Amino acid sequence: MRLAVLKERRAGETRVAATPETVKKLIGLGITIITVEAGAGLASGYTDAAYREAGAEIAPDSAAALAGADIVLKVRAPLAAGEGEVDELAHIPRGALLIGTLEALTNPDRARAYAAAGIEACSMELLPRITRAQSMDVLSSQANLAGYRAVIEGAGAFDKGFPMLMTAAGTIPAANVFVMGAGVAGLQAIATARRLGGRVSATDVRPAAKEEIKSLGASFVGYEDEESKAAQTAGGYAKQLSAEFYAKQAEVVATHIAKQDVVVTTALVQGRKAPALVTEAMVASMRPGSVIVDIAADAGGNCAATKPGEAIVTANGVKVLGFTNWPGRIAGAASALYARNLLTFLTTFWDKDAKAPKLPDDDEIVRGVLLTRGNAVVHPQLTQDA
Ligand code: NAI
Repeated sequence: MRLAVLKERRAGETRVAATPETVKKLIGLGITIITVEAGAGLASGYTDAAYREAGAEIAPDSAAALAGADIVLKVRAPLAAGEGEVDELAHIPRGALLIGTLEALTNPDRARAYAAAGIEACSMELLPRITRAQSMDVLSSQANLAGYRAVIEGAGAFDKGFPMLMTAAGTIPAANVFVMGAGVAGLQAIATARRLGGRVSATDVRPAAKEEIKSLGASFVGYEDEESKAAQTAGGYAKQLSAEFYAKQAEVVATHIAKQDVVVTTALVQGRKAPALVTEAMVASMRPGSVIVDIAADAGGNCAATKPGEAIVTANGVKVLGFTNWPGRIAGAASALYARNLLTFLTTFWDKDAKAPKLPDDDEIVRGVLLTRGNAVVHPQLTQDA
């Protein structure tokens, strides 16, 4: 059994899908040869020497790493023809198992290409959010770190301190920090801002989030009505709500935002553009030197002033950090957790006798992530659309 780990080539991607730690454990599973493409871990702080010491072979390029591979680990989808300097997809052997965040629902052509190439592909961002899957949940591990990093970068950009600073020269008050969206990233943002000494408030539309916000010592600010009582889907995600609800929510939030020093936005609605929560008028109401950190920038952003991929300063002096790929800004930790998520997935679906992965069709987790099998697209959300 051979496993390949490629260098990530998509713009701005700094993570890697295996670390020296997981390489050792994969060898322990019975994988005989692991090839890591040269330089694959460098942007995350893992050297070729460290992978070699863990038992991997270093391949000079992606084609050499992929030669004879039975399993391919990736962070993002492999490059196909015309997507970059190399066609990684063309070198993945037929029958190989490809595991990564392949973003297959937003790029349905990818699943068709994997099927045509005879690759069995698993798109890990589609993992069902059930208890059994928690330790393989790449969205959670990465969102958690994104929430932490966003607050750290917000604190760095803010021109005052987070804690109340009492000095002989006088007192600097604690920063008012407002977190919008209290899912995985938002809850970590609340916890981090509290640890730094900020005065933290937060909002969400799901009723369950209100208690979670309070349990972390933040105050809840938000609008609630009959509609928001049913704002959560069976899968735990927020639903798209009516324009009337969003207007009421904006009214409540507007007066609060004007008094904030740092606003961290994390709100997402699955499969849609990020909801617009912070309007131009709200940004204009904030003091110069205050900061908005938009973790939802990858999905278009929650703030009207966000320029995805950029940090800007508005006409009234508000800094808006709209970086994309927030987990990639804390690549060492993000790769470590992502690699462990993939290791857990493989360990869970490992046939010890055959020393090979075994993905049963009737398993809820497998059904959630499996895109292709036997030259066909099999994922229910992709076959329905076809
Ligand atoms: P997400 O990344 O899809 O959204 C982030 C947050 O934005 C959510 O809390 C959502 O309610 C909120 N939001 C959406 N529209 C909003 C609006 N207009 N205003 C304010 N907030 C808004 O969500 P995430 O972080 O992936 O988590 C969603 C849920 O899944 C949570 O309840 C979490 O506890 C649950 N979960 C369960 C897991 C498991 O059981 N294995 C694993 C991970 C998460």
